[in-house]
Amino acid sequence: MTDTRFHLAWFMNFTPDEWRAPFGQGGYPWDGQFYIEMAQTLERACFDYIMIEDKLMVPETFGSDRKYSLANGMMAPKHDPAPLAVAMGMATRNLGVVATMSTMAYPPFMLARLSSTIDSLTRGRFGWNVVTSAEDLAAQNFGMDVLPPREERYEMADEYMDVVRQLFDSWDADAVVLDRENGVYADSAKVRSIDFEGKYFKVRGPLNTVPSPQKHPVYVQAGASPRGRDFAAQHADSIISVANGAEGMKAFRDDIRARAETFGRNPDDIKVLFCITPTLAETEEAARIKYERETTSDHFVNDILASISAITEIDFSGYALDEPLPEKLVTNGESGTLDKFQQWGSGKTLRELAAAQGGGLVSSLELIGTPAEVADKMGEAMAEVGGDGFLLTTPVLRVSRKYLVEIADGLVPELQKRGLVRTEYRHQLLRDNLREF
Ligand SMILES: Cc1cc2nc3c(=O)[nH]c(=O)nc-3n(C[C@H](O)[C@H](O)[C@H](O)COP(=O)(O)O)c2cc1C
Repeated sequence: MTDTRFHLAWFMNFTPDEWRAPFGQGGYPWDGQFYIEMAQTLERACFDYIMIEDKLMVPETFGSDRKYSLANGMMAPKHDPAPLAVAMGMATRNLGVVATMSTMAYPPFMLARLSSTIDSLTRGRFGWNVVTSAEDLAAQNFGMDVLPPREERYEMADEYMDVVRQLFDSWDADAVVLDRENGVYADSAKVRSIDFEGKYFKVRGPLNTVPSPQKHPVYVQAGASPRGRDFAAQHADSIISVANGAEGMKAFRDDIRARAETFGRNPDDIKVLFCITPTLAETEEAARIKYERETTSDHFVNDILASISAITEIDFSGYALDEPLPEKLVTNGESGTLDKFQQWGSGKTLRELAAAQGGGLVSSLELIGTPAEVADKMGEAMAEVGGDGFLLTTPVLRVSRKYLVEIADGLVPELQKRGLVRTEYRHQLLRDNLREF
């Protein structure tokens, strides 16, 4: 019998929790404890990984001011994901921990060293979400006035991947011999310089860390443009995406798999996970009421618009809320998310776009109901798409303990009962867990 299980992961960031809501933790998660407990909850529910989103600026596009972002704790403050990944990893045993780091921001040597170190600390459970950065505001923190165009960002990123790969391979797997009798810690014949000289990077090597359990971290990527999809299909172990419905999910996954084959890769080695934001309650009616209340509040609509403004650098505060967008918008930033959001041609008003599917930004399917009903819908959608899983999140990524419990203790057991998701971890390494089915 073929294994029809799918994977679960979670998409969040190191920002305030759902601090305004009645079941929030209070909005001060900076000692990490709240998110460590979140990781433990997800491990209890057998998630493959938790992914920490990141951006390198305080947004100021919405309303042409950073006031909204700071007043609402929206995408700011945002703390560094790498130390949080370590803290989460040290407090769990099986859950994968994935941190976002930008190829624009880290010199490749630093990123390879950091990733290798975290992979050793977590005994082989580290993943890197590879991003190229998509905001001029971020570029301005790194000596540039504007971002390079997308094509060039990906060209740099291709070279970057080559450098880090060579750095990870600059130590043979058996280079550490630990021979006390002969006084040899590492065999210098098995550690080499890389002498890399490319168009953008010049790195001598070797790396000064021992080979970590996975040797190369798990690569996560979210390319959406044709160039971005090629990049993801070439490098990623897991691709995260937001699509429009099961049909859009299937089209995206089929496209990625076809691209992977042209790069000589086995498409089954790439797990494509789709963002969803289920709304759960004791009855379908109660879930509908909750959904309506949550997605029509002014806070919700403004948070969504501030969020899409930040990642596309288009000021959505300038458009009328109850009219359709006047033109199809384009960005040098996150094009896929923008296209998914604007549903060009649908005739929906901006308010309706913000609410679409329970978070017009990051939800691929409408999932409203009891845990059992939502589990059925997820199973049906995955059967239609063909795999590989879902990336649970919330519309603007903020979480409360209550929501986590609804997922971990309501939805996941229903999925497990149907044989749709894992009930235990079989492997130590994140990459092996991803490839298990
Ligand atoms: C689910 C998801 C998560 C993402 N996380 C980040 C992130 O943490 N940091 C970031 O700078 N970009 C993030 N992105 C943006 C992607 O890296 C990518 O730039 C975007 O999808 C646009 O694709 P393109 O570059 O091919 O146009 C994310 C995108 C998606 C869909």
